[in-house]
Amino acid sequence: MWVFGYGSLIWKVDFPYEEKRIGYIKGFSRRFWQGSTDHRGVPGKPGRVVTLVEDPEGCVWGVAYKLPTGREQEVKQQLDYREKGGYRVMVVAFHPRPPLSPPPSQTLLYIGSRDNPNYLGPASLEEIANQIVCSTGPSGQNTEYLFELADAVRSILPEDNDTHLFGLETLVREKIQRS
Ligand code: SIN
Repeated sequence: MWVFGYGSLIWKVDFPYEEKRIGYIKGFSRRFWQGSTDHRGVPGKPGRVVTLVEDPEGCVWGVAYKLPTGREQEVKQQLDYREKGGYRVMVVAFHPRPPLSPPPSQTLLYIGSRDNPNYLGPASLEEIANQIVCSTGPSGQNTEYLFELADAVRSILPEDNDTHLFGLETLVREKIQRS
């Protein structure tokens, strides 16, 4: 069993795994459109974290983890609990980073789709940045989530030129400097 991470699962690896692979999935884009009331915000004052939105032209880079053999269900339950704030599991085709070119393999991922109660949906980068600057929750500040993700994508997934993520990072850093 493989699980593909495109958000905090890239940089906050608090679960056991047997092997990991860098690669991408097609047909989606990464967006800060999911509300967080259990990690980076609280009920009534949600933070913003990433989800995937359907985008026929889109390609999202991330890390696929092979769950430990024989302990797949146990570890998946841990991940289900961690991702319980509106995410559901779906199956997608994972493409490993070239030059590895085996046929795409099936992997699970956690997605906050439009019908979940914490879904916030689109907003201007300015609005999203303002919300991130002033949100905090049991796992810490929302800005930490954004900066850790941007740093991780820049350093381990340089193929992913995610203008939404990096635009937000720049905006939030400017706001913090000015305050
Ligand atoms: C993921 O990282 O793949 C899911 C979203 C998140 O936990 O940030």
